[in-house]
Amino acid sequence: MDQQAAKVILDGNTYELPVVVGSEGERGIDISKLRTLTNYVTFDHGFGNTSNCLSAITYLDGEAGILRYRGYPIEQLAQYSSFIETAYLLVYGQLPTSYQLSDFSDLFTQHSMIHEDMKHLFNGYPSTAHPMAILASMVCSLSAYYPGIDLMNPTQAQFDQIAVQLMSKIRTIAAFAYKKSIGEPFVYPEENLEYVPNFLNMMFSSPIKPYKIYDEVITALKVLMILHADHEQNCSTSTVRLVGSARANLFASISAGICALWGPLHGGANEAVIDMLEAIHRDGGDATKYVNMAKDKANTFRLMGVGHRVYKSYDPRAKIIKKCAHDLLNKLGVNDPLLEIAVQLEEQVLKDPYFTERNLYPNVDFYSGIIYKAIGIPKDMFTVMFAIGRLPGWIAHWKEMIEFPGGPKIGRPRQIYVGSNQRDYIQINKR
Ligand code: CMC
Repeated sequence: MDQQAAKVILDGNTYELPVVVGSEGERGIDISKLRTLTNYVTFDHGFGNTSNCLSAITYLDGEAGILRYRGYPIEQLAQYSSFIETAYLLVYGQLPTSYQLSDFSDLFTQHSMIHEDMKHLFNGYPSTAHPMAILASMVCSLSAYYPGIDLMNPTQAQFDQIAVQLMSKIRTIAAFAYKKSIGEPFVYPEENLEYVPNFLNMMFSSPIKPYKIYDEVITALKVLMILHADHEQNCSTSTVRLVGSARANLFASISAGICALWGPLHGGANEAVIDMLEAIHRDGGDATKYVNMAKDKANTFRLMGVGHRVYKSYDPRAKIIKKCAHDLLNKLGVNDPLLEIAVQLEEQVLKDPYFTERNLYPNVDFYSGIIYKAIGIPKDMFTVMFAIGRLPGWIAHWKEMIEFPGGPKIGRPRQIYVGSNQRDYIQINKR
């Protein structure tokens, strides 16, 4: 028997299944022929043990707390890289030369405006609309604004164009959605501003009040965006791949990913964390009461921003974000009681056997909301910020899937049917 093969014994028959080994030594049993060979399928609720693809984008070791994009440690990228450079790295696989980076940045500037007709779409929403609802539909609507491009099958040049356009326009859409929600006129992108300051300016300046952009705020937001830029096969990225596997276009696939991200167990957790910290604050600041509620199996309450499907140690992103939150609040002179409550909550989580035995640690969403809040970004925009950061990762995965040798294979999981056996229909008056 091949040493690298897995042996499965079913109904007295032995089958060998090949083992796939990744570049960091990760091992997976290739079950793609299992059903043909044995008529059995696997059952993996929530895909906790299933690799849906071979991917060269992000390496994550949840036990060791390691996260790397294209081989580069996240800590180095957060400290030294820019968001645009990291986006290039994720999408194209290599760090850009200075010439490539300058070209790439110019494209962001050229494509930062959205089609004027799209502005009317914002008027169709009530001012109470959640910006994630607007973002998802606006990104899908971008599909309608590229008549000259075969979106189902773009050439390399066309892909380059729509990918950069999407990354640039998403911050304009996000800022317009915010302006719409507060009833202020839209502020257009400016040619001489870089990615992050341009976004801040569109969000916070108005015809009567220019916005002062602090370097500390730019740095904090840049770090957050880089740390959110990819996270391999999470719920939203898997959604982008699944929708894209049916050959849906890039915009439609990413719009679906934005909807997945919105959920409070995924990207929506950053908003839910602040809701939770505010509730604790209103309730007198007693973190212990909430820790006990989260441990009580009769209570559905969970500590938001705590726990992760893959990390079984401290989330390396949370480590950086925690420091970043302290630094920013100090520099801005902000004294936010929510930060103190978060620190207390974390201290309890790290020493309480309920959490330590289950390997539950603060995740990326635990401290990020405190930074957004200090910058003045409203709570319902937090997940939008996550989406802007995650976009390069979604695009990289869509590209990788489309370019897979032999083309993408449509995603179509199996199920184990547990419903009624055949029964005969009885007309309603005879039931
Ligand atoms: N508070 C209390 N108990 C928890 C928590 C929590 N936040 N998270 C997990 N548990 C318990 C859970 O009750 C279960 O206990 P038991 O073994 O006794 O049944 C055990 O830990 C394992 O939890 P699970 O739900 O089976 O784990 P999962 O991998 O399916 O879920 C998770 C992962 C992130 C959805 C979950 O930890 C959670 O709901 N966390 C809070 C929401 C959150 O912060 N989400 C953001 C995730 S990171 C960013 C992102 O992915 O977008």
